[in-house]
Amino acid sequence: MAKKKSLDKSIERRAYGLTILKAAHPRMRLLKKHHEPSIHGNKFWSSSYLIMDFLGYQGLPIGTRVLEAGCGWGLAGIYCAKQFGARVTGIDADEEVFPYLSLHAEVNGVEIQTRKARFEELTSADLAGYDAMLAADVCFWDEMVDPLYGLIDQAVKAGVQQVVLADPGRPPFVQVSERCCEKLGAQTKDWSVEEGPVNASGSLMIIGTLPRARR
Ligand SMILES: C[S@@+](CC[C@H](N)C(=O)[O-])C[C@H]1O[C@@H](n2cnc3c(N)ncnc32)[C@H](O)[C@@H]1O
Repeated sequence: MAKKKSLDKSIERRAYGLTILKAAHPRMRLLKKHHEPSIHGNKFWSSSYLIMDFLGYQGLPIGTRVLEAGCGWGLAGIYCAKQFGARVTGIDADEEVFPYLSLHAEVNGVEIQTRKARFEELTSADLAGYDAMLAADVCFWDEMVDPLYGLIDQAVKAGVQQVVLADPGRPPFVQVSERCCEKLGAQTKDWSVEEGPVNASGSLMIIGTLPRARR
C-alpha cells in the first residue's frame, strides 16, 4: 500500500481533503517572483470554504460540469474535482492567477481547465455546457453588481442547474443576492465553518438544485 505523504506544517496545510501550499512553500515563492495577480486574486479567500462545506453537505453528482467564476487560485473547483470527480473550468479576468491554480491542481492530483475571461464576456453558448456555477468572493465593488447579476441570469437561462455564490456579506453581494432572490428564485443562507485550520463565516446564495447529489 502506498505510504501517505506526511505534511510539513511549516509550508503546507490540509483542509477539506485538499493540500494547500503556504506562501513559504518554495514553489509558491518561485511563482510569486513571476506572477502578481492584480484584482485581489493574490490568495485563497475564505468564502471558498463556505462553498466546499455546503457541497460536502449537499453532495455533487460524479462528473458534474462545474464552472468556477472569478476562480482565483481555484480552491472550490479543485475540491469539486478531487472529492466528486467533477469536470471543472475556472474562469478569471486575470491570467496571473492561473499558475497558482495549476500548482494546486497538480499537488492535489486533479486537472482543471482555465480560461481568461471577464464575467461580461461569457455567452449563453459558453454557459450551456455547465451543470453548476460556483463563485466565491467575487462581488466586492459596486461596479461588479451588474456584470455578476448578468452572468447569473444568463447562466440560469442557459440551463445551468445550480448556482452557488459565497461572500462574507459585503453590500455589493447583498445587492446581487436580493436581485437574484426577487427575479431568479434564489435563497440565501448564513453559513459558517470551523474545521481544523479553517474558520470562516458569511452568506451563501443558492439558485436551483442538482439531481441525485451524492453525499
Ligand atoms: C477576491 S478574489 C477571489 C478568488 C477566489 N474565488 C477565492 O475565493 O479564493 C476575486 C477574483 O475575481 C476575479 N475577477 C474580478 N472581476 C472579475 C470579472 N469581471 N470577471 C472575471 N473575474 C473577475 C479576480 O481576478 C480575482 O481572481
